Amino acid sequence: MKSAGIRGAGYAIPSQKISNDDFSKMGLETSDEWIVARTGIKTRYIADENTTSATLAEAAARKAIQNAGLTRTEIDMVICATTSPEYPLFPSNACLLQHRLNLRQVPSFDLSAACSGFSYALTTGAQFIATGAAKNILVVASDCLSKFVDWQDRSICVLFGDGAGAIVLSETAQPGLSYSRLYSDGGHGNILCVPPDKTPPHIVMNGKAVFKVAVENVIPAIEEALSQTQITGESLTWFIPHQANIRIIQMIAQKVGIPEEKVLLNIAELGNTSAASIPIAIAQAAETGKFKPGDTILMAGFGAGFTWGINVLQWT
Ligand code: UT7
Repeated sequence: MKSAGIRGAGYAIPSQKISNDDFSKMGLETSDEWIVARTGIKTRYIADENTTSATLAEAAARKAIQNAGLTRTEIDMVICATTSPEYPLFPSNACLLQHRLNLRQVPSFDLSAACSGFSYALTTGAQFIATGAAKNILVVASDCLSKFVDWQDRSICVLFGDGAGAIVLSETAQPGLSYSRLYSDGGHGNILCVPPDKTPPHIVMNGKAVFKVAVENVIPAIEEALSQTQITGESLTWFIPHQANIRIIQMIAQKVGIPEEKVLLNIAELGNTSAASIPIAIAQAAETGKFKPGDTILMAGFGAGFTWGINVLQWT
């Protein structure tokens, strides 16, 4: 079995910035104090009508391929995690990327696991590397959930921002990805969903239930990962949780014994960028030189479905 590591990363966010105060100016009964205290979010970036999850994915992917030091002909597969693709049914974002990046006629497919999309895509990509079926896989996570929020619903629209994160996952002689485990419980599908009878389609959420299900499931999943990989909250180098709510993140980190300074965050600036939040954090940290070879990185995705997944990776 061959090992998979991250060879390059990139991210893209749209240009339109919305501050918490902007919501009050739009006439919503909310405040910067409420949003910061309950979620940790200060700003988010929103796609305009010409920007889609595929255009953001393309920009992120170009940077990832460049940072990996590869050329377009060396990419063997495209996996795009998204629940807000440019075309509602088909073609997939991954096929749009294959064409727009002028890649060879490689396998390309989308994967739907909501905010856990990157955990699912990374884990899936690693299987193709492990068997030797692919050497370099473009794994992209991209969402524009701002297109699926009711802008009059203050409990939803303040939470989400748009963005894309991409990595090139490559065969490596070093340890790389050492642990991946994915989970789901469709019994919680109704606490965070886009109901089929809503026109236009928009997100409906029971925030308190999502909070509880996230914390109750992610904590034991991380404890299992720590035990299987024989690392501790103290011994790992970085923790990258899905960026849904600062209070969820703090509660999880505290319960599993991960010190605050090891937690990578982008929620204050970007809001909840859904599947993209973890790979954006990876790309930001790589760009600023935070990661050193051999760093142990624990990632935890969670989101609608309900889905969740844990990955442990050594930076290569
Ligand atoms: O990827 C997964 C994505 N989702 C999540 O991670 C969501 C997880 N849940 C949460 O983050 C929290 O539940 C929220 C931040 C969504 C809400 O916080 P909460 O502490 O659970 O508040 P709540 O829903 O119980 O609402 C408390 C009050 C309500 O008013 P009343 O009924 O007490 O008068 C809400 O209407 O806060 C009100 N409220 C707001 N007030 C000001 C809801 N949204 C807002 C707002 N500004 N934006």
